[in-house]
Amino acid sequence: MMKGFLLLSLVLVFRCDGAAVIDVGLAEETLNDRPIIGVLAQEQSFYLHSKFPEENYTSYIAASYVKDVEAAGARVVPIMIGRDRTYYEQLLRKLNGVLLPGGATYFNQSLGYADAGQHIFEIAQELNQRGDYFPVFGTCLGFELLVVLASGRGKVENRARCYSYTNMPLEFTDDFKDSKMFKPASNHVVDTLSKYNVTVNAHQFCILDENMKAHNLTRDWRVTSHSHDEFGLRFIASLEHKRYPFYGVQFHPEKSSFEWKLSKKYPHSKRPSK
Ligand SMILES: *[C@@H]1O[C@H](CO)[C@@H](O)[C@H](O)[C@H]1NC(C)=O
Ligand SMILES: *[C@@H]1O[C@H](CO)[C@@H](O)[C@H](O)[C@H]1NC(C)=O
Ligand SMILES: *[C@@H]1O[C@H](CO)[C@@H](O)[C@H](O)[C@H]1NC(C)=O
Ligand SMILES: *[C@@H]1O[C@H](CO)[C@@H](O)[C@H](O)[C@H]1NC(C)=O
Repeated sequence: MMKGFLLLSLVLVFRCDGAAVIDVGLAEETLNDRPIIGVLAQEQSFYLHSKFPEENYTSYIAASYVKDVEAAGARVVPIMIGRDRTYYEQLLRKLNGVLLPGGATYFNQSLGYADAGQHIFEIAQELNQRGDYFPVFGTCLGFELLVVLASGRGKVENRARCYSYTNMPLEFTDDFKDSKMFKPASNHVVDTLSKYNVTVNAHQFCILDENMKAHNLTRDWRVTSHSHDEFGLRFIASLEHKRYPFYGVQFHPEKSSFEWKLSKKYPHSKRPSK
C-alpha cells in the first residue's frame, strides 16, 4: 500500500513538473505583450448632457479614441478624472502610455480633464527622466492641453481663439522629416497629408508660433506642421517634444476611421481624389 502511494506521488510530481514546463512554453507562445494605453476621460459636455438629460453621467470617453488605439494594436484602460495624485501615480506605473483625447471642456474646472492631465503630464516627465519610455499623445484639446501645461497653467491660458471646421492638408516645416513622428512616414503618407484635405479640424482654439515663442517652448518642442483656420490664421497642426516621447496634433486622426456621421463630411476614402 505504502509502496503504491510513493510510486503514485512520484509520478504526479513528475507530471506536475512536466506540465509546468509545458505551461511555460504555452505562455511564451501566447503571451499578450500589446501595449496598454490609458485614455483620459473628460467632463460631460453641455451638448452631451442635452442628449442624455435623464442620465447622471459626469464624465465620458468618445469611442473613436478607444477604437483608434485598439486598431493600432494596443489595449485600452480608461483614466478617470477627479482623482488624487496617488491614483494617477499608481495607474501610470501599470500603463505603457497615455492618450489625451479631444473634446469640449474648459481647463479651469477643478478636478476635471485639465487637472487630471496635469498630474499625468508631470508623472510622465518623472517616468521618462527615470529612464522609463512613457509616451503621451494629445489630440486637439489634448494637444492644446500639452502646450498649456508646458507653459505653466496661469491666469491666461497660452492658446489663441480661432475657428477651424474643415478638412485640410498639412503644411510641413522644412525639417519635419527629422522628427520622431514623421521620420518613419512613407512618401505616400507624406504626399497624402501634404496635398489632400485629409486632416479633420474641429476647434475654436489654436496654438500659434507666437504662443511657443512667448513661453520659450521652442527650446523643448519641435513644430512639424501648420494649417490655416477659416480666417487665414496660421496655427500649429503637429508638434513633438525634443527629448520626451510627447506628441500633439491639432487635427483628429481618429475621426477618419471611426466617426461616420454623414453630415460631418469626414474624409474616409483610402486616397481621396483631387
Ligand atoms: C439621476 O439622479 C436623480 C437624482 O438623484 C435620480 O432621481 C434619477 O433616477 C437618476 N437617473 C438615472 C437614469 O439613474
Ligand atoms: C472657465 O472659463 C470659461 C471661459 O472663459 C468661463 O466662462 C467660466 O466661467 C470659467 N469657469 C471658472 C470656474 O472659472
Ligand atoms: C525665456 O527665456 C529667456 C532667456 O533665458 C528669459 O529671459 C525669459 O524670462 C523666458 N521667458 C519665459 C516666459 O519663460
Ligand atoms: C482642399 O480644400 C480646398 C478648400 O475647400 C479646395 O480649394 C482644394 O481644392 C482642396 N484640395 C484638394 C486636393 O481636394
